[in-house]
Order: sequence, then C-alpha cells, then structure tokens
Amino acid sequence: MDFEKIKEIEKDHCMKVFKRNNICFERGEGCTLYDTAGHAYTDFFSGIAVNCLGYNNPDLVKAICDQAAKITHTSNLFYNIPQAELLEKLTKDGMFSRAFLCNSGAEANECAIKIVRKLANESGSGKTTILTAKESFHGRTLATVTATGQEKYSKPFAPLPDGFKYVPFNDLDALREATTPDVGAIMLECIQGESGVRPATYDYLVGAYAFAKQKGILLILDEVQTGVGRTGKFYCFEHYGIQPDIVTLAKGLGGGVPIACCLARGDAAEAFTAGDHGTTFGGGPLACAAANVVVSKLQDTDLLDRVTAMGDYLSDSLSRKLARHKFVIDIRGKGLLRGVQLDEKVNAASIAGKMLSLGVVIGTCGHNTLRIAPPYIITKEEIDDMTDKLEIIFSNTNI
Ligand SMILES: Cc1ncc(COP(=O)(O)O)c(C=O)c1O
Repeated sequence: MDFEKIKEIEKDHCMKVFKRNNICFERGEGCTLYDTAGHAYTDFFSGIAVNCLGYNNPDLVKAICDQAAKITHTSNLFYNIPQAELLEKLTKDGMFSRAFLCNSGAEANECAIKIVRKLANESGSGKTTILTAKESFHGRTLATVTATGQEKYSKPFAPLPDGFKYVPFNDLDALREATTPDVGAIMLECIQGESGVRPATYDYLVGAYAFAKQKGILLILDEVQTGVGRTGKFYCFEHYGIQPDIVTLAKGLGGGVPIACCLARGDAAEAFTAGDHGTTFGGGPLACAAANVVVSKLQDTDLLDRVTAMGDYLSDSLSRKLARHKFVIDIRGKGLLRGVQLDEKVNAASIAGKMLSLGVVIGTCGHNTLRIAPPYIITKEEIDDMTDKLEIIFSNTNI
C-alpha cells in the first residue's frame, strides 16, 4: 500500500491518540530499520524499549514460525507447552514462586494491584491503599492510569478508582510519613522511564524495601521498562540487592511479540484462587514461544554482560561528546536505558526529529529528555555513529 494512502486511512479511521512520525517502517535487520521508501535507520529506541534482540533474529523468527505452524492459541482452559516452559524459566532462580502471564505492562500492573486488594479484603486488614511515586508511569487502564502519579494522564478520565496516594520520588521520609494504616503496598519503578529516565537512588530503593518489610506491606516494582535485561541484569532491582514481593515485566519479554507478566512470592503469590483473575490471550503458546527465546538468551548466554558493556560504552560516549554543551543538564540511566536531559530552551523532540532525518531513531520522555534504548545487540560502531550525529546536531544548536 502506498504511504500516502496509509496516512489517509490512519487520519480518517484510527482513534486520534497517536502522534506519528512521517515514516512507515516495513522491515528490519539487526539494529537497522527500513521504511517504505527504502531509507535505512539505526534503531536506538527499539519500539519503546521492546525489540531487545533487534530485528529478524533467526532464533526468534524460527520459534515464532515453528509455533505458528503448531498452534497459536488454546485459551487458559487448557495447558500449553510453551507457557509451562516459560513459567519454569521465570521461577527457576527461586526469587518468585508464581507468575500471571498477560499481554501488556498495564495488565501486569492491574494484576499486582488486584493482588493487594484481594489480600486486604480477604484478611479484613483494610490495607487497600497503594502508595505510588509522583511522576511515575504505570499504564493506561483506569487503575494503572490512577496509579500513575501524573494528573495529565488520569484527570480527563474521572471518576477514578479510589485507593492510591502519591509521594515524591526519591524521598524516603515522605514515603514513611504517607504510610497510614490503610496502606497495603508501595509501588515504584527502579528507573522512572517515561518521566525522564530517572533512577531511584540506592538509599531510596533499599530504604523503601526495608521499610515495607518492617511495616509488613508489599513492595511492588514495576519493571515493565527496566526488566528483562534492559539495565544489564535480568531485573533492575538486582543492582540494589533487594527483592520485591511483586514485580511486573512486559516490553522486552517477547522481543517484539506482546507478552507481559506479574511475578509474585510469598502471600502475594497465593492471593488468587480460580476465577479471581484471568485472561483470554495471556500466556498463549505463540507469545510464550517468543518469550522463551528471549529469556533463554538472557539466562544461558552472555547477553546480559553485553548489555552492561555496551551500556557503559554508550554512557561514556554520550558524556565524552555531549556533556560539554551548556544546555545538557544531565546524562543518566543504567545499561542500555539512557537519558540525556536538556535545558528547556532546546526542544528534545526537535533534536529527535533531526536525528531521524540523519537516519537514527531515538526517543524522548519527560523533563525534556532524549531517551536512548537500543536493541541489546547494538555495536560500538553503531553507538559511535549515533553519538557523532548527536554531537553534530548539538554543535549546531544555539541557545
Ligand atoms: C514503567 C511502565 N509501566 C507500565 C507501562 C505500560 O505498559 P503497556 O504500554 O505495555 O501497557 C509502561 C509503558 O511505557 C511503563 O514504562
């Protein structure tokens, strides 16, 4: 289909929620994307931190094709082999005992929220309230948009569900003060991705973990963006030496195939009984077959070490070439999730647009920040080329 026709259909018939770039990607190979006009782009955004194995990975393609030829959907009324294999892989380190497989980050977080409510209602403790951080992002369903500590996402959709309270991020005293007897859980991101790649400080996250333990409340970590190896460890919380009661994963899990998961341990893992929660598509054989490839590569090869090495190289390259510009406020992140915060006089979105015209895809997020999240197979040469191009754009930017 001709690109002009694609845009016309989209303009007339797609709900008006997306602001798209003037490009239609048709295929990809490694870390390179090709548009319908045949132009090539190096991908430093992975479809919003999703395509962790890059494009056309032979093992992923084979697993998807082989599974598609066998069976794609069974429903959760029956057992399926790829789901059992994935559950085994996700729990074999002993950190979490049970998982609920679903289709998106928001759904994984809904599951976590429902676990808190179920435990509180069943025990009669009344601990139904969940504390979340200001400027967090947890999804777009009604509960998760309310959990998200940013009114711009939730206010238009009032009335919103009760039972969420917001605290400033990286402020342990505020967290302690807000913990009234009705609080049953604290829900945080290890790195606030959407609001500017803002890492939790070590003291904050370790302190929140210890405080939750002391108070007998649950710690939920939303690792939808930071999990599945993005920061150089399977879970970002491993950098902090802690372990939450519940963790949610999504983006990278299927290497581009929609699949997400809520993992839990202890009482949280045992909260649901049959009929409490469910999904038609979640944990389907096709998505699980894809996730099995991603998780195997992270568990059984040196891919995590590669993410760490390339992440350090990326961080160093960004600092060396960009930090001298006076409009660069901060360069931060972990592994292959990096943010470059710019002074408000320089528009991050326009920098990303200029990168696109130079054949490089990068993203943006809150606090006027460039978001860089390439596939895990990114090379030093590709990083050098990307940071050279940013450097050229920065050198021609005046404020
Ligand atoms: C931390 C976090 N949680 C939840 C979500 C929602 O995930 P999804 O868009 O798959 O529902 C996102 C998406 O960006 C996210 O970054």
